[in-house]
Parts: sequence; structure tokens; C-alpha cells
Amino acid sequence: MSAPVLLDVRNLSVKFPMARSRMGLGPRRSLNAVSDVSMRVAAGETVGLVGESGSGKSTFGRAILRLGELTRGEVLLDGQDMARARGEDLARLRRETAMIFQDPYGSLNPRLTVRQAIGEVLHVHGKKGAAGRDARIVELLELVGLDATLMDRRPGDLSGGQCQRIGIARALAIEPRLIVADECVAALDVSIQGQIINLLMELGQRMHLGMIFIAHDLAMVRRLCDRIAVMYLGRIVEEGPTEQVFKAPRHPYTRSLIEAIPEIDPARMLPSAPLPGEPPSPVNLPEGCAFHPRCPLARSECRTAVPPFVGGAHRAACILAPGGRLNEVGENLPETTPATPTERIETC
Ligand SMILES: Nc1ncnc2c1ncn2[C@@H]1O[C@H](COP(=O)(O)OP(=O)(O)OP(=O)(O)O)[C@@H](O)[C@H]1O
Ligand SMILES: [Mg+2]
Repeated sequence: MSAPVLLDVRNLSVKFPMARSRMGLGPRRSLNAVSDVSMRVAAGETVGLVGESGSGKSTFGRAILRLGELTRGEVLLDGQDMARARGEDLARLRRETAMIFQDPYGSLNPRLTVRQAIGEVLHVHGKKGAAGRDARIVELLELVGLDATLMDRRPGDLSGGQCQRIGIARALAIEPRLIVADECVAALDVSIQGQIINLLMELGQRMHLGMIFIAHDLAMVRRLCDRIAVMYLGRIVEEGPTEQVFKAPRHPYTRSLIEAIPEIDPARMLPSAPLPGEPPSPVNLPEGCAFHPRCPLARSECRTAVPPFVGGAHRAACILAPGGRLNEVGENLPETTPATPTERIETC
């Protein structure tokens, strides 16, 4: 990564405390939504974050922008830790980062006109005095491909695609340097999705934004993102340059996600269960590699040892991946060869 690091997340964990049983007995348990996740994003770079439902993508996105809980870890923005920032430091985080949400209607106040919805953001962030505000709103609308004649419309008068463009205009109004887009096109028609993705690509390059793009749609991630990170049960299990990961996935979980994209319909969403069985509960994570109960290649040691995350720019947390304990020579994973029956775990 040659551009300077904008965001450097180190060992971030988010645990949600669980309610005690009615009897109030036993230790208090917690749900490990995000465990020990590190990620870097450079200015002008888009990183895709994928994984099954419940893997912790939104929790991670919200935590790094301090819109949600954060239990442990550091979130360095230009080298300054924001994980416990308050006052002026937290205000800087709010000024320099923005989130774009999935539901274009739900994320806008139905009572506010487009002028008021964008004007409010400009006002709160002190971007323009009242005099210059309308001109800036027109500029922002043009930036996201909307006509100034929409200024006095309310969300109810707009299409889903137009609302999402307003959501993006609101995010851009603060002139952020980092955007987290959480499933921001999932609720839109496929044709509109393409337009919004093109818009994000263009804006990302023009404004040199760092972007974390959370999505289920792997084909879209492949088109938009420079790098990709794959999350399973709160951990990143593979990360690397997008084309390298797609062409030679190193973790069996990533491979199963990629194999689930049918070539005839590259825009298809990830199936809710690309592998047999459901992911284990994040309250009771399995010992060793959390993926082992569903892994077609699992060995007995996968049950006991957490695999290290290794491999340089293209890394994976699997003992069979290049640099992993059973593949120190750096070969790709075997195609589909399952482990021998004696090596397999009974629960596979
Ligand atoms: N506020 C909360 N309190 C308790 N548990 C939560 C809370 N928010 C999320 N979780 C749990 O944390 C885990 C991760 O959830 P999260 O919404 O981050 O997943 P996700 O990868 O974004 O899923 P999806 O693809 O469905 O959006 C899930 O088990 C979820 O039930
Ligand atoms: Mg989510």
C-alpha cells in the first residue's frame, strides 16, 4: 500500500453482554460480535468487507466510526487513536467520517425536504453560512447526479435510488475522508445498484476517499474494491488484493463464498448459507479455528489451535494457506481434496 494509511484499526473487539438467566445463576456471558480485528485503509482506497449474515460486519463498521460499542482495540485516524476519543477529538472523527446505510428511505427524515436534509448537515458541521448553503446543496446534488429541481421534495416523493443519492450527498456534505457504506445498494433495483456503484467509484477517486464497502454481493465487491477482507464469526479470515483473493482464495471459507457465485449470474447475492450448516453461535465460539466444524479440509489440530493470520499482503488464517503451519512453502490450497478420513474431525 503506497498511499499514506488513513485508518489503522488494531485488534478491535466488540462484545455484547448477554442477559443473565432468569435464575441469575452462572457466569455472565457475552456475545463476541467482533474479535481481534485489524484493518488498514489508505486514502483513495476501497476495502470490501464480506461474510455471512451475523459475521460482525456492521458491528465493526459502526464501532470504528464510534456509532456503536467498542470493547477493546485501537482505531487510529491519521495516527490518532479515536477508540476512546472525547470532546474535540470525537468531533474531528464526526467531521472526517461518514456512514451510508442500507435503507435509503429509513435513513432520511420523511418530514424534511431535500434542502433541509442536506442543509442540516452543512449547518451542524459549520460548513456554510446560510447565504452560501443553497449553492452548496445544488453543488452536492449535481455531484451525486441529481437535479436542483428536487430541492423542495420530501423522501416520499422520491425513488429509492434518488433517496440513496441524497444519503450519499449528506455523507459528502461533511467532506469526509473516510466512508463506511453498509449494504448501501442492497435495497435498490439491480439497474440502480450499478449507477450508485459507479457514482461511489467516481467520487472515491475524485475525492481521494478511504472507503469500507460492506456487502453480500461478491461480484459488486470485485468491481468496486481494491482489497477485500472476509469475515467469519467476528474474525477476518482472509484479506488481500481483490483479484488475488478471487483468483486464488487461501481460506476454505472464502473459497466456498466464491464458489457459490454462479458464473451465469455474476450479480447474484451470497446465499444465506453457502456451506452446509449454520455458523456456530457467537456466544459459544468453537475452540481452535472457528470454521473447523464446517470446513471440508479440517484436520484434527484445527480443533485446538487458532490458526495465525499469515501471508503478507494476501493473508489468511488457515494452517493450509501459504505460510500456514502445514503449507510453509507457500502453495495454494489443494483444489477440493478433503483430508483423509482419519484426519477429519468427527463433527465435520
Ligand atoms: N446491539 C446488539 N446487542 C447484542 N447483539 C448484537 C447487537 N448488534 C449485533 N449483535 C449481534 O452481533 C453479531 C454480529 O452482528 P452484525 O449485525 O454486525 O452482523 P452483519 O455481518 O452485519 O450481518 P448482516 O450481513 O446480516 O448485516 C450477531 O450475532 C448479532 O446478533
Ligand atoms: Mg450488517
